[in-house]
This record gives sequence, C-alpha cells and structure tokens, in this order.
Amino acid sequence: MTQVSDRLASLSPSETLAMSQKSSELKAQGIDVINLSVGEPDFFTPDHIKEAAKKAIDDNFSFYSPVPGYADLRKAIVGKLKRENGLDYTADQIIVSNGAKQSVCNTLLSIVNPGDEVIIPAPYWVSYVEMVKLAEGKNVIIYAGIEQDFKITPAQLEAAVTPKTKALILCSPSNPTGSVYSREELKGLAAVLAKHPNIIILSDEIYEHINYAGRHESIAQFSELKERTVVINGVSKAYAMTGWRIGFIAAPLWIAKACNKLQGQYTSGASSIAQKAAAVAFAGDQSCVGQMREAFLRRRNLTVDLLRDIPGIMLNVPQGAFYLFPDVKAYFGKSAGGRKINDAADLAMYLLEVGHVAAVGGGAFGAPDCLRFSYATSDESLVEAVRRIKEALAALS
Ligand SMILES: Cc1ncc(COP(=O)(O)O)c(C=O)c1O
Repeated sequence: MTQVSDRLASLSPSETLAMSQKSSELKAQGIDVINLSVGEPDFFTPDHIKEAAKKAIDDNFSFYSPVPGYADLRKAIVGKLKRENGLDYTADQIIVSNGAKQSVCNTLLSIVNPGDEVIIPAPYWVSYVEMVKLAEGKNVIIYAGIEQDFKITPAQLEAAVTPKTKALILCSPSNPTGSVYSREELKGLAAVLAKHPNIIILSDEIYEHINYAGRHESIAQFSELKERTVVINGVSKAYAMTGWRIGFIAAPLWIAKACNKLQGQYTSGASSIAQKAAAVAFAGDQSCVGQMREAFLRRRNLTVDLLRDIPGIMLNVPQGAFYLFPDVKAYFGKSAGGRKINDAADLAMYLLEVGHVAAVGGGAFGAPDCLRFSYATSDESLVEAVRRIKEALAALS
C-alpha cells in the first residue's frame, strides 16, 4: 500500500515553517508582508568566518569529513566550553552534527526506549515533542505561564518525575519565550534532579549568546549533574549561520559514542566547508557576537515599548533570544468583518491576512494563549509591524 509509516503519520508539520511559507506566498502575490515568524538572525555571517569557508574550498576540503567532526573543530569547541562556560570536556565527548536540531534528535534517538518519558517544560520549541514521538517516547509536559515568567519551578519538576522518566529537556535562553534561567533557578532544578540519578538532562543552549541577563548559565556547571547532562549548542544563532548547519553535543562519553554510531549510519559527518568555518567562529574574534547582541537588545526594548501600548496584550520582558511571547487571549471571541477569532492560530492568520504581519500562534509551542513574534529584523520593520498589529487589533470588537 502506498501509505506513509505510522511513525511519520504521527508527526505534526512545523507550524513555524508553515507560517513563513504562507507569508512568502503573500509576498509573491506582491503583498508587503513583514515577517516576524522566523527564527533566525537577519545579519550576514561575519566576514572572517566566510573567509575560512572560502579557504576550505581552495584547500580542497571536499572529501567526507570524520563522522563526529574534524579534530580542529572539536578542539575549538572544547576550548569554547572551557573559556566561556568553565566546563571541561575532552574532544571525544564532542559530536558535531547538521545543526543543533540534529544534535537534539541524535541524543533522543540514542537514549529513549519506547514508552520512556521525557519531561518538556512548556512553552517549548516545536521540534522537541515531535522528536520524542519519533523516538517512540512519551512527552510529559510541564506548563509554566507568563505569571511565572514561563519558567518551571523545582516543585513542578518534582511532581512530573516518575520511575519512567528518562530525560528532561531544558532550553535557556528559551525559544519561544526568551526567558532565561538564573543560576539560582537552575540550582533549584538541579537539587531535584540530584535526587533522581537516572534522568538525563538535555540542555539546549543554542541562544547562549543572545542573553541580556549577563553571563550564560549552564546546568552542566553542577558537578552532580555533569556526568548525565548533554549540552547542545551550535553556530546558527550566535554567529548568524543558520544555513551552514553546524551544531554539536558535549556529552558523557557513552552518549557521544551512541550519537557517533547513529550519525555514522544516518547522515555521516557534517559539511566539510561549514565545519572549517565553524572552527573559526568558535576560536576566532568574538566581537561580532557582542555587536549582534547589542542590536537585538535595542530591538527588544523598542518592540516591548511599542507593544506595551496596545491594550489587551500582556507581555513580560524576556532576557534573551530574539522572541516576544505575549499573552493575547483578551482578543479571543472578538470579531472583525464577519471573521471570528477563536484562538491564537486564528489571530496569527488574521494578523497575516489583514495586518500583513506574520507571527506564530502559541499552540505550536504548547501555549495556546500566546503569539510568538521574532524581533530579528530591522528597527524600521519592527516599528511598522507594531503599527499594523495595533491597527488590526483595534478593528476587533
Ligand atoms: C531552541 C532551539 N534549539 C535548536 C534549534 C536548532 O538550531 P540549528 O539551526 O543549529 O539546527 C533552534 C532553531 O530554531 C531552536 O530555536
């Protein structure tokens, strides 16, 4: 029979990509859409990194790369983890993949057996729950609303743990909320995890450098957890390299070996050229990172100030990433022009079709009262986008 597998049928398509596509379609019809649905920096990759890639081509790095990544890149990652995070790893604990997305998926596929529970704090990045499904695990969602700055408490974590809990996925700074766990908050979660020695922690730190709260804090810093924490990171967000597809795990050796084995049968090593560029990103001049962070901070402040002016929008002030995640349920049940807004997905579609601003409904992130706006775009576009949002929302009654 020509029918996809049950495994595939159970997966949901990415709503963030769907919104981006819908907005591109409207653009293709000549409509001036401002796209705040995308999850990537709008900057170009810094020149010194591009030069490294050009050199790699000229130096004929055109052959298969080692499955876990080139030695110089893994060494640069070990150096980065020591320098920036105070964490000690050896190169054989680092596995380089096609983006942090593959790193998360490799890890889950390497540790989750059918029926194992994986705790995921909501709002969550869309792909976690789908990857757990792919691994035939069971998602256990803990919800943290805007009133608790979208961060789970130790008591919530404790209540979610069962004998079947295999892993916890933490994401700080967070996509979609921008929330950042402080050292004290992580310490509270670590104390709970210390009581449950079989739980593996996946710490997704891809937004590490887009953090306005100060120093990045990794849960791997707690020595009682380090031997069962998988740090996941990459070059996409910090160095404006989303298209280059380089991510990594820093993991206990047994997980690194498992991911290496999986990747060896599945994708092989990541792109040779992109790896050479990533080695320079991690080991080279870091001033570009601070410059981009400053621009993101300015845009966050601008957009928060403007959105706060709109009645019915409840907003916290996120300390990281480049997303705002307002609660918009005040608009549910309202109508304009015979069109009723029942939920966040309806509101996102209304803002796109009427206001010509693309955002993503919070349902995709496990938070159906919210909308996600990315402010990784120019100041002018942000000002105009919020003007349009305000006008479109004012028409609802
Ligand atoms: C929380 C989170 N983790 C991982 C990724 C994947 O990053 P990469 O481009 O390295 O695959 C993203 C990208 O949007 C993300 O938001």
